Amino acid sequence: MAKDKTTFVCSECGGTSPKWLGKCPSCGAWNTLIEQVAGSNAPANNRFGTQFSPLAGVSELATLSEIEATDIARTPTGIDELDRVLGGGIVSGGVTLIGGDPGIGKSTLLLQAVDALQRAGQNALYVTGEESGAQVALRSRRLGLDHSQVQVLAEIQLEKIIATLDATRPAIAVIDSIQTVYSDQLTSAPGSVAQVRECAAHLTRFAKTSGTAVVLVGHVTKEGALAGPRVLEHMVDTVLYFEGDTHSSFRLVRAIKNRFGAVNEIGVFAMTERGLKGVANPSAIFLSQHAEPVPGSVVLVTLEGTRPMLVEIQALVDDGGPSPRRLSVGLDRDRLAMLLAVLHRHAGVACMDQDVFVNAVGGVRISEPAADLAVMLAITSSLRGKPLPKGFIAFGEVGLAGEVRPAPRGQERLREAAKLGFSIAVVPKANAPRKGSKEIEGLTIHPVERLEEAMDV
Ligand code: TYD
Ligand code: MG
Repeated sequence: MAKDKTTFVCSECGGTSPKWLGKCPSCGAWNTLIEQVAGSNAPANNRFGTQFSPLAGVSELATLSEIEATDIARTPTGIDELDRVLGGGIVSGGVTLIGGDPGIGKSTLLLQAVDALQRAGQNALYVTGEESGAQVALRSRRLGLDHSQVQVLAEIQLEKIIATLDATRPAIAVIDSIQTVYSDQLTSAPGSVAQVRECAAHLTRFAKTSGTAVVLVGHVTKEGALAGPRVLEHMVDTVLYFEGDTHSSFRLVRAIKNRFGAVNEIGVFAMTERGLKGVANPSAIFLSQHAEPVPGSVVLVTLEGTRPMLVEIQALVDDGGPSPRRLSVGLDRDRLAMLLAVLHRHAGVACMDQDVFVNAVGGVRISEPAADLAVMLAITSSLRGKPLPKGFIAFGEVGLAGEVRPAPRGQERLREAAKLGFSIAVVPKANAPRKGSKEIEGLTIHPVERLEEAMDV
């Protein structure tokens, strides 16, 4: 195929240049020129650029009430935890992006999923650009997927992949990974922003026109962004993200965006010698086992998607040098700085000259503010060298004025903690069971309205 001409378009101002330059000749911004096929003269950062115009056409108008609201047809993958994050299953014509660190289990999970779909009578195609067909076959044997009928294509050239997809029209196609795919139209290297975006756009267009569900695997760069600086996130329908510590066997799959279901739903898996196994009841897997309570450790009841989970929060406060450090793993660092200020101002707990380290056990990432109270109690406990009582849990958001705000679905959290044998809870007043309503068996609840009260308990 004859190569089309390409130009370099500035993602800031839309200015063009016939060759790559470090600095945009139009606006002077650095490192903003991105290669594009010539003729698509839309600004590089415009996702509705002309590369999609063949899809646009003039459409008929209809009022909302005239449009028949049919449910989206989903095909369950047969892997319950994956279906949970997908909102019920794979949607035909839908595009899903699965991101995560290398080696976390993306290929493993997808191979298991396409095999299950193939067994359920869906035609599945696995395009591998990272491994040879033999390696994928070896992996499938290892996963116990003998006699798998999944078709494998070891190819990295976009045009060939699309041609094959077009000829075979599978129900689901996995592209592992999008960073290895390159288009002949561009001279940029595979994995560059231009290539990743161009290839993903073509594959998305193919999915929408053919009805094939396309799953793109994306590696994550060190900075935590899906490579191709998040350019893929808005193009696709669903973004799933693998979390977890590669050293522990547990993996979380979180939906960050889902046009067909709820976001922030998570699926929990355990990595075994025979692949990823769903963990149906994950509430207690992120607790570390201490025979006796230790200072700096507090169990938080967090709500991930629809399920409450107990996660141990650990804090270590230690004498710091002239510029003490604040480090957090699994929690937001800015939030930590804010909590330390509130702790000082409203509870008189000063950590100004101390190093503060906070960690959520098991590599879980906690984003909800209901973790505040547990984090502050863990810090105070470490600073004072005093452990919290055995069987202690806490949750609640803490405001800048030192007030403790309720967390959503408090009763559910408390019941889960009681079920796992926890006996003492410090919770926001609004989350405590109301007088006269049924008590939660085995749990002594201390409702608090202010941070100071929590510290007293
Ligand atoms: P993989 O799916 O190749 O990761 P990714 O595609 O996200 O880069 O996962 C590879 C890791 O999983 C590797 O370290 C070995 C481990 N693993 C198991 O523990 N059990 C298994 O059955 C398989 C297939 C892999
Ligand atoms: Mg892989």
